[in-house]
Amino acid sequence: MKPHVLLTRRIPSAVLSRLESSCEVERYDGAQAPGADELKQRLPGKQALICVLTDPVTSDVLSAGSELKIVANIAVGYDNIDVAAARARGIVVTNTPDVLTESVAEFTWGLILGLARRISEGERLLRRGEWKGWALDFLLGMELRGKQLGIIGAGRIGQAVAARAPAFGMSVVFAGKPGATPARLARGEHAGSARSEEPARAKATFVSFDQLLISSDVISLHVPATAGTRHLIDRKALARMKRSALLINTARGAVVDEAALAWALGERLIAGAALDVYEREPAVHPDLLAMENVILAPHLGSATRETRTAMADLAVENVLAVLAGRPAVTPV
Ligand code: GLV
Repeated sequence: MKPHVLLTRRIPSAVLSRLESSCEVERYDGAQAPGADELKQRLPGKQALICVLTDPVTSDVLSAGSELKIVANIAVGYDNIDVAAARARGIVVTNTPDVLTESVAEFTWGLILGLARRISEGERLLRRGEWKGWALDFLLGMELRGKQLGIIGAGRIGQAVAARAPAFGMSVVFAGKPGATPARLARGEHAGSARSEEPARAKATFVSFDQLLISSDVISLHVPATAGTRHLIDRKALARMKRSALLINTARGAVVDEAALAWALGERLIAGAALDVYEREPAVHPDLLAMENVILAPHLGSATRETRTAMADLAVENVLAVLAGRPAVTPV
């Protein structure tokens, strides 16, 4: 008998066919993302759950899946899953690292360039019909060449963002959360999601969290959402940044205290922010919505056709491996 899999989203048909060749697949097709109740109702009798980062795979939800062997998240982040509860029940949890590293790094640079050169702000103005024509002092931005990029989190994505910095003439410093030492950061601890055996790929200096805050012109966040990184960027951290600094967040909303960010931007303590992730997605702090010096993207970091296909494929690969009694390819 084929194993039963609950799939909470549409995935590319070639990937689905691969899954269906050896599994019975029940796909949730509702217009809204499935909530905990919906998941609980559908999990009995399923050996695998393939889900996405907005699906709440809580301890309560897991308890409805008495036959579950694997939860495969189609995302690199897995803060939507109670990993400890899964582990306690012997359920393997997998994510999709590596395959999205380059697309998130590209998107991060899109935000850095867009914010530094005020592209969204200019387009909004033009569409409102307010452009009066070329002027020498119109919408001046910040040149990136010669500036310092501070990357918080030296994992795969942080490293890939750093690797692109020389193309724009920027120097790079890395830091982890407060207390992370350079040696531990280089090993990937407190850093992001680099595996400890991976050597640092980009040439960069490791500095303390505070040193990064006070000396960087652009600060980009690449740490996972954990209890230790929640509100890493709070009022105190924002007040340490340069008044000209730009903050970029393509990691997780919880890493930034959104209310504190709105306050810092309002007080002109920093010059701008570009966000792809939010504390209470899809809600965004109302003050940020009204600010011109803020780019607000709807969680698009990994959103390319190539990457989303590769992510779904890796999730399926993990499910097929575990259901066949083999080790998962990318366990968390
Ligand atoms: C996207 O945010 C991911 O975690 O893959």
